[in-house]
Amino acid sequence: MKPWQILEWGKLGQGEFSSLPLSATQVRVKVRAISLNYRDHLMLRGHYNPKQPLPLVPCSDGAGEVVEVGHEVTLWKVGDRVCPIFSQSWIGGPPSKERISQTLGGPLDGTLRPEMVVNETGLVAVPVHLDWEEAACLPCAAVTAWNAICDQPAGSRIVVQGTGGVSLFALQLAKAAGMEVLLTSSSQEKMARARALGADHCLNYRENPEWSRAVRAWARDGVDCVVEVGGAGTLEQSLRCLKPGGKIAMIGILAGASSPINVLPILMQQLRVQGVLVGNRDDFEAMKRVLERAQIRPVVDQRLPYEQAPQAWERLASGQHFGKIAISGCW
Ligand SMILES: NC(=O)c1ccc[n+]([C@@H]2O[C@H](COP(=O)([O-])OP(=O)(O)OC[C@H]3O[C@@H](n4cnc5c(N)ncnc54)[C@H](OP(=O)(O)O)[C@@H]3O)[C@@H](O)[C@H]2O)c1
Repeated sequence: MKPWQILEWGKLGQGEFSSLPLSATQVRVKVRAISLNYRDHLMLRGHYNPKQPLPLVPCSDGAGEVVEVGHEVTLWKVGDRVCPIFSQSWIGGPPSKERISQTLGGPLDGTLRPEMVVNETGLVAVPVHLDWEEAACLPCAAVTAWNAICDQPAGSRIVVQGTGGVSLFALQLAKAAGMEVLLTSSSQEKMARARALGADHCLNYRENPEWSRAVRAWARDGVDCVVEVGGAGTLEQSLRCLKPGGKIAMIGILAGASSPINVLPILMQQLRVQGVLVGNRDDFEAMKRVLERAQIRPVVDQRLPYEQAPQAWERLASGQHFGKIAISGCW
């Protein structure tokens, strides 16, 4: 089986498989499952980083089995089930230019290939209750959702936008932590599924362009946090949802990356707009403990065979998915 590669912008194809050499501190991982993020859709189209050299193995989310270890490796042994971390050199502590630059699926080759070679520090053990495709959902989407909400105490009220990968993890993690969650969606059917996952209240953002009013009807004093995956196009509504001192966890750009914005509410209400770029290995470990304690299973929309990987991009672009789209490994 061959690695999938972005050969030119908009074009996925299969390159040649060559087994990479292993240094003393590296680990060889047989990739057993991969999952897609919206970032991979942007990357394929050349919208994420048009200067990225090609070909590139796409995707940052995945899970696999350790099949070989370098002679100085102490953290892993053959047979261990692992996930690679998104930023391979960000183990802990605050972000720095160096720590957030070594990310899978661009600029580094990603997970959509038969095997990967990574430093032993760039891995986290898979939670035992998850199968391969479920585990493959964690590295980017779940860690991002965790970082968006982990500072909110039990009883907080939060807004989660849409029913994509990050948002459903935010819903599940927030409910496990005792928060109240309002979820927005463009689909009645998806809202029913979100309620079954624990959403306390749902509203249709397409039918209610001024949806902050409905949020205010639900939480009269405002909410504590908005998990902002819409970006510039939804920020104004999100700011109107917040109580004084509330937080926007700024994550995505599904509704655009730039737009004129009235900053007055930010200063008058002492709001916080906090950017999130996934997180580090320590964040992954902390999130994993919550998944294990609450026995949370990622929501997998579809599981596609390896050879049908391009269809995963089509499914994501259609917007019909609920949660994460997974691709099984080629083994
Ligand atoms: N900063 C980071 O570290 C980080 C990490 C991961 C992702 N992201 C970003 O976060 C965003 C979400 O990523 P993802 O992988 O979770 O995407 P995804 O799985 O493709 O989620 C897409 C869903 O978002 C909802 N949506 C689309 N437009 C919306 C809007 N205007 N208002 C509210 N909801 C809307 C839709 O839900 P319904 O169908 O229910 O309407 C859609 O199905 C992307 O922009 C991605 O690049 C950032």
